[in-house]
Amino acid sequence: MLWLLLALPCLGGSVPRAPDPRPGRELVGIVGGCDVSARRFPWQVSLRFYSLRHGQWRHVCGGSLIHPQWVLTAAHCVQPEELEACAFRVQVGQLRLYDHDELTRVVKIIRHPQFNESLAARGGADVALLELEAPATLSEHVHPVSLPPAFLRVPPGKTCWVTGWGDIMYRKPLPPPYPLQEVDVPIVGNEDCGRQYQNHSGGPSEVIREDMLCAGREGRDSCQGDSGGPLVCRWNCSWVQVGVVSWGSFCGHQDFPGVYARVTSYVSWIRQYVPRFPGP
Ligand code: ARG
Repeated sequence: MLWLLLALPCLGGSVPRAPDPRPGRELVGIVGGCDVSARRFPWQVSLRFYSLRHGQWRHVCGGSLIHPQWVLTAAHCVQPEELEACAFRVQVGQLRLYDHDELTRVVKIIRHPQFNESLAARGGADVALLELEAPATLSEHVHPVSLPPAFLRVPPGKTCWVTGWGDIMYRKPLPPPYPLQEVDVPIVGNEDCGRQYQNHSGGPSEVIREDMLCAGREGRDSCQGDSGGPLVCRWNCSWVQVGVVSWGSFCGHQDFPGVYARVTSYVSWIRQYVPRFPGP
């Protein structure tokens, strides 16, 4: 039934009658964070999906502006694949979620071809691109973030920042007025991170893949609803996006860092579709 609804093509111009995201797949945190002050993370966007139950375009995931007309998010935020671009909207330049919404339509969704729907975020390649109907008007509050060169190595121990409107603790939503949260998190090496997850899963399989990056420590993490949002670091006095919030066990748990899609693994794929900004 759900699939039938989801498979319906969107009707031009009208509000898509799409159902709530599946239960158990809560897409709607930052743990241990604090309110973001204006202009600090002007690339943060909120990805919206229409909720019939709330009669509202609800926040489902984060994302980042990487060009005035392109958003980088997580592939699992736009699954299943049958969901069309018109089922989504993007809000740029907001600090308090839902405060004077001015939504932009999405005209194209490009999911990474290696993203596996059944493995979901844990299968890797958890990246997707959203083309906006029109370029966002840039200002102090709306501005793209830079992508790293593919060769950039992100050293374990480095402090970076993750932002979002997701849960502030495991299963504890951010309360109104929904101020955007930021938290600094240390990068954790893939080996350490993999060992931590492996100890608990017991399986011999590779849990933390090469195209993933871990960050966080006890009480400092992203959480449900932050997915798709940016993990950014300072490099030579400018901000660079190194990760896309993807998955994790619990939130802010001492044994489990947050897991991100590693942006350096996907820059060349992104550059096939998204022009450099500012141009060369
Ligand atoms: N999968 C989550 C989402 O859809 C993000 C979870 C991040 N978890 C973590 N412990 N860092 O919003």
